[in-house]
Amino acid sequence: MTRILPLLTGAAVLSAALLSTGAQARTLKEIKASGTIKIGTNAEFKPFTYFEGKTMKGFEYDLGNAIAKQMGVKAEWINQPFDGLLIGLNQNRFDLVISSHGITPERAKAVDFSLPHYCSGGLIVSRPGGPKTAAELKGKTVATQVGTTYVDQIKKVTGEKNLRVYPNNANALQALMSGRVDAMVNEKFYGLEALKLNGKKLQQGEMMFQEKLAMAVAKGNSTLLSAVNQNLKTVQANGTYAKISKSYFGQDVRCK
Ligand code: ARG
Repeated sequence: MTRILPLLTGAAVLSAALLSTGAQARTLKEIKASGTIKIGTNAEFKPFTYFEGKTMKGFEYDLGNAIAKQMGVKAEWINQPFDGLLIGLNQNRFDLVISSHGITPERAKAVDFSLPHYCSGGLIVSRPGGPKTAAELKGKTVATQVGTTYVDQIKKVTGEKNLRVYPNNANALQALMSGRVDAMVNEKFYGLEALKLNGKKLQQGEMMFQEKLAMAVAKGNSTLLSAVNQNLKTVQANGTYAKISKSYFGQDVRCK
């Protein structure tokens, strides 16, 4: 499984997304008329979107709901694997994707990104005694989730041979915990959460790179994009964003 997955990442996924010619994406007017905005996410990414029992929670879940509320619609959340989200968007399976996508030139060819809804980056996590810096990752095996920006960052340092991609973050973390890989690179706050839950079994390494994370709409869905941007600015100005952010991270994570 983990051997085959790299073939489905990067360019292949993106060209598939570009090629998909589904029905027209729903305009803001159509979304408002239906009363519901469909939001796609990969909800195994605590503290961004995740399940507690049957209830979805998280920073992006609360933020998405706040933006939907500003729009005067309900949010219907659709949970699916991370690497299919942008494709699903262009197939109109949802109107909006909120799943911590880093803005990259490649992705921006396939979808339209909102203003960034937070700034963060990739963090190295390992077991005590393991690699803590990008330089120390050389020659070590490193786990991450398929289809993420971390894949390319890791490859640059360790080469394809030492990269281990997993369908879910939980699998990547498990691989690290059980000693099947030497380190994991993942979103900073996901890594910090793993550190919190696993006490002395894991150690925090350095940040490998920074990125701007944004929501995505189907290419050319300009009415929805401007409403999302406008409403993000509103919740950032009226205190809603700061309140949500502090409740999950203890700090305001907006881009400065
Ligand atoms: N920030 C990374 C990227 O843009 C990882 C996002 C993973 N998100 C998730 N919901 N699992 O690729």
